[in-house]
Amino acid sequence: MKREIRVGLCGCGVIGEGLVTALLDHADVITARAGAPIRLTAVADKDSARLDIVRGRDASVALLDDAFEVVKREDVDIVVELIGGVEVADRLVRAALDAKKHVVTANKALLAERGAALFELAEKNGCDLYFEAAVAGAIPVIRVIRESLAADHIRSVRGIINGTSNYILSSMANDGAAFADALKAAQEAGFAEADPTLDITGGDAGHKLALIAGLAFGARVLPKEIPTEGIDRVDPRDILYARKFGYVIRPLAVAERLQADALDLRVHPALVPEADPLAHVDGALNAVAIQGEMVGPSFLSGLGAGAHPTATSVAGDIVDIAKNALAGAPVRTWHLPSEGKLKIQPIGDLSSRYYLRFSVRDESGVLAALSGKLGDSGISIELMVQDVEAGDEGTATIAILTHHAREGDVRASLSAIDETHLTTAPTHLIRIVE
Ligand code: HSE
Repeated sequence: MKREIRVGLCGCGVIGEGLVTALLDHADVITARAGAPIRLTAVADKDSARLDIVRGRDASVALLDDAFEVVKREDVDIVVELIGGVEVADRLVRAALDAKKHVVTANKALLAERGAALFELAEKNGCDLYFEAAVAGAIPVIRVIRESLAADHIRSVRGIINGTSNYILSSMANDGAAFADALKAAQEAGFAEADPTLDITGGDAGHKLALIAGLAFGARVLPKEIPTEGIDRVDPRDILYARKFGYVIRPLAVAERLQADALDLRVHPALVPEADPLAHVDGALNAVAIQGEMVGPSFLSGLGAGAHPTATSVAGDIVDIAKNALAGAPVRTWHLPSEGKLKIQPIGDLSSRYYLRFSVRDESGVLAALSGKLGDSGISIELMVQDVEAGDEGTATIAILTHHAREGDVRASLSAIDETHLTTAPTHLIRIVE
C-alpha cells in the first residue's frame, strides 16, 4: 500500500459536513480509486457545534477553532477551503500554498476575484488548486471543459448556474407566485440563503461565468466586467406572455466566442424556446450546454448546490490531487491559462431578439404610434399580443417579440417611447436566447 494522503478541512458548514460524511462513510471507494487511503486529520470551524459531525465518529481527527492552524500542521497534505468569503479565504489559501500544500476550494467569489494571482502562486509552488465544486455544484463542468474537451475549440457555454434563481422563476411559473412570495417560499424551503442578494442579482452566476470563461476561452475576466442582470425584475406577467409565445424564462449565463479576440459574456433572465433542453431544467437544478467545434452540442445537468452533491465534487478533487501526489505529478492539469486580454462585447452591441412589454393607454392610434416608433429605429416586430388590463380601465399591455436588433438601438428607442405619453410605466425588456 502506498502512503496515505492527509486532508485538513477549513469550514464545517453545509458542504464541510457533506465532505466529512463522504470521507468517513465512503472511505472504501475513495481508497480504491485514489490508490491509497485518504484520511481526514484536522477540521476547523469557529463554531464548535459544527464539529459535532466529527466528534465521536473518528477520535483521531484534530478539532480546531482556527483554520490557519490547519494550514500549519505537518499531518495535512491537502487543505480544503470551505469558509467562503474573499478576504480571509484569500489569506488562508495563500498560507496553504506558501506552505506547499495542495488546495481544494468551492469558493467561486474568491477565484473569480483573485484567481489569477492564486493560480500563479500555486503553479510557482508546485501545488494543485482545484475548484470543481465552485461551478454548478455536483455537475463536473470544470473537468469536462478542462480535460474532456481539451482538444476542442469551444464556441459557447450557456447555462443555468444559479439554483436559487432557477427555483424562484420555476415557482413563479408553476404556482403563479409573485417574485417576493417565490423568494420567501424558496428561503422557507431552504433553497435560498437568508441573504439571497448574490443569487437574485446574478452576482453568483457572474462569479461562476468568469471561471467558465477562463477555462473555455483563456479569458481573464473580472465579474464586474460581465454585463449582469438579476431575476428580481421578472414579473409574473412576463412568464405568462413568454408561455403564450412558446418560451420559458430561465436565469441564464452565456459565454460565447465572437471573433478571435472578443467574447459575448452576460448573465440575465432570458426567454428560452420551449424545445430547448435548458427550458426543461426546472426547480433548483443547474445545467450547462457546451457547443464545441468538433464535439458539437453537449448537455450536462444536475444539482448545483446542497451538502452531498457539492461535497461529492470536493471529494472528487481530493482524489484527483491524491493521485497526482502519489504519482509525483502535481500541477498535472492547467489552472486558468490566459490568451491575453480578450474583449468583452459591450451589451449595447449585442444582436439579439427581444421580448418587450409595454404598458400603454388603451386609445386609438397608440399601437400604430408605438410600432411606428420601433420601425423608425429599425426594430422589426415578429409577434405581438395585446391585453386590456382587468381592473385597470384605460390601460392595456402589449407584449412583442422582435426580430434581431442591436440592443443599443432597442434601448434608445424604448427610452424615447417611455418619454412620450404613449406608455404609462417603463417598458420591460428581456433578451431571447436560442
Ligand atoms: N447559491 C448558489 C445557488 C449555491 O443557488 O446556486 C451554489 O453556488
